[in-house]
Amino acid sequence: MKILALVSSYRRKGNTAQVVGLLEAQMRVLAAQQDEALEFETVNLARQDIQTCRGCRICFNKGEALCPLKDDLLALKQKVEVADVLILASPVYVDDVNGVMKNWIDRMAFVCHRPEFAGKLAFTMATSGASPTQHATRTLNAALQSWGFYIVGNTGFKTGAYMRQAAIGEKFQSKIEKAARKLYSAMNGQRHQNPTFLALMTFRIQQIGWNKAARKDTPDYDYWHGNGWLNERVEYFFPHQAGPVKVGAARLVGSMLAGFFT
Ligand SMILES: Cc1cc2nc3c(=O)[nH]c(=O)nc-3n(C[C@H](O)[C@H](O)[C@H](O)COP(=O)(O)O)c2cc1C
Repeated sequence: MKILALVSSYRRKGNTAQVVGLLEAQMRVLAAQQDEALEFETVNLARQDIQTCRGCRICFNKGEALCPLKDDLLALKQKVEVADVLILASPVYVDDVNGVMKNWIDRMAFVCHRPEFAGKLAFTMATSGASPTQHATRTLNAALQSWGFYIVGNTGFKTGAYMRQAAIGEKFQSKIEKAARKLYSAMNGQRHQNPTFLALMTFRIQQIGWNKAARKDTPDYDYWHGNGWLNERVEYFFPHQAGPVKVGAARLVGSMLAGFFT
């Protein structure tokens, strides 16, 4: 199993990098107990050359390969493609993710249209001085959900301005162990094959939207068509184990909401 963690703080040894380091250590303990191999790579997003989106829409209309910004975005996306699990970790800046993380999410916006990560697992984390971290993790979850990820969970850490690793370990060890257990069991389970109501509903809204698309000569339409997802009988990105009542209700609500979005 391959885990990729993207940390968006400029502070290489800041609070966010430290909690991710502790999570990695705990994941390695769990893997060793099961005698399983685990690859865990952490990339500091702030040290990547990811320029700000210019809003030209070329990625949507012609494909991301033609983006005029020549930087590290596509190489980093390849890392996400080959990982089984993506962890996003951001410090809270003014009640949300920091600009580095938001900028990366914006540059990846074309994946909302072509959700190629369907079925992969994700976990989100945020650290803050003192305020709640939910707004930041919601931002991360919303992006990942629209890219097709199954969100295993999210967690937040109130670390103050700077907390030493020993103190973080002392204060948050049980929280980190809990997060690691949750992620590890999801990696070894089939939970992603039971998509949530929200995921099923979002799929339905997108399915209706792309079926109604005025232009059929776009990478987005090709992508949905090529994957067979425009067929009305297809309920999700891949064969799933969600119950018929949940699927039926999600598709009904999705069909109703699609009128507002499409
Ligand atoms: C520009 C800036 C804005 C911040 N805004 C908030 C905030 O709104 N709420 C909060 O609790 N902490 C805030 N913080 C504190 C950080 O979220 C907190 O110290 C975080 O753990 C830093 O993580 P890092 O060491 O990985 O950079 C802010 C810090 C900075 C530098």
